[in-house]
Amino acid sequence: MKMTVPKFVGMKSKEKITMITAYDYTQAKIADEAGVDSILVGDSLSMVMQGNNSTLPVSLEEMIYHGKIVKKGINNALLIVDMPFMSYQASLEQALVSAGRILKETLCDAVKLEGGQEFAQTVNKLVTSGIPVVGHLGLTPQSINIFGSYAVRAKTKEQAEKLIQDALSLEQAGAFAVVLEAIPLGIAREITQRLKIPTIGIGAGLHCDGQVLVFHDMLGLFDDFKPKFVKRYAHLKQDAISSIKDYIKEVKNSEFPTLEYSYE
Ligand code: KIV
Ligand code: NA
Repeated sequence: MKMTVPKFVGMKSKEKITMITAYDYTQAKIADEAGVDSILVGDSLSMVMQGNNSTLPVSLEEMIYHGKIVKKGINNALLIVDMPFMSYQASLEQALVSAGRILKETLCDAVKLEGGQEFAQTVNKLVTSGIPVVGHLGLTPQSINIFGSYAVRAKTKEQAEKLIQDALSLEQAGAFAVVLEAIPLGIAREITQRLKIPTIGIGAGLHCDGQVLVFHDMLGLFDDFKPKFVKRYAHLKQDAISSIKDYIKEVKNSEFPTLEYSYE
């Protein structure tokens, strides 16, 4: 059954919500067939697909391209596409035009953007125009140059209070969910209790309404670094390397292809 925004929101405090990233058709099919509730075309693709060292370089065109090819692999999951850096910060108008392009061209269900109170008006503009929005608070990778590191956020009482206010203002503005990244679990629990919309955690502890992980991280495909919050459910990079080594050896030794793989 196709997941919708109201169904997704209705899962809060009934059933944990699952989300995983995907960046192409094959990944989307794998995640959708596994039965995940939602698929995120994250701007993390800047790092895991494009090899950049931050999420900043990926363009709106590139996000739309990946959104389109992911969409083709989905039957049921809710599809959310990240708004990339500088596709929504300049003005409300820029945000609406960018989000509108993402929705119309990829046929996704919703967009996600980073930021709190400062972006409440932006969220409201999109939602009142018919574009569902997911917020993203805590470690917001598009602001890496302000913070200087990917360390856990909201460690001081003032920062924690600001984060809670940010979450409340996103809900007030009409966001239907909020991603909480790399924050202490107690703050994530408080936000989860105080919001009517679901919280989706990544490095935000066990009390969130749902969880998101990057496809390449959880399957062990990407190993440039591993944040504490990543659990590896497989080691596909190692599996791939040993499979390719087998292939190389067999070709070198004339063990592959055999007659079985040949046309008479
Ligand atoms: O870009 C991304 O993959 C994300 C998730 C980590 C939440 O924003
Ligand atoms: Na992102």
